[in-house]
Amino acid sequence: MKSYVILISGRGSNMRSLLEANLPGRCVAVISNRPDAAGLVFAAARGIPTVVVDHKAFENREAFDAALLEAIESHQPDLLILAGFMRLLTEAFVRRFEGRILNIHPSLLPAFPGLHTHKAALTAGVPVHGCTVHWVTPSLDAGPIILQASVPVHADDTEDTLAARVLEQEHLLYPKVVRKLLEG
Ligand code: GRF
Repeated sequence: MKSYVILISGRGSNMRSLLEANLPGRCVAVISNRPDAAGLVFAAARGIPTVVVDHKAFENREAFDAALLEAIESHQPDLLILAGFMRLLTEAFVRRFEGRILNIHPSLLPAFPGLHTHKAALTAGVPVHGCTVHWVTPSLDAGPIILQASVPVHADDTEDTLAARVLEQEHLLYPKVVRKLLEG
């Protein structure tokens, strides 16, 4: 059975959707760069080893990534799943996991990379928005797209209503993709 590690920074609702999906693989650790990430509590309650690698404790990105790498490698995962992990990773780190590191992004990439995607979609006036699961490469939000899900944008949408509609799809899309990858 393949194994995976999930990286989070906060709420962890995508992590939760993965852990609740009964996937054909073993989550061997949930790692957060923030000690107060709410998702850690949920993972620990399910008996999954949780690890904090606090980015504030490191002098620079390289040192943080080295510590993160060590924490991950001790579990030897087949897949490294970014789920709301809000740190930019160094090229060396990403290369180390090339082909087995993936991310979920709240827009239909290549539209709206980076932060504040729902606001950007409303400002641009697009009729359709959504989410993307993609392989992670050294360029931010630009790796090969694996699968996307779309939602309509309504005339009276606010950032919050649109975010909620997209998030609902994220929770379906990510487990769907990870299941396929774990099945090989
Ligand atoms: C999600 O919208 C995800 O697409 C983005 O960050 C958010 C994380 O939410 N990368 P959660 O922590 O999974 O609830």
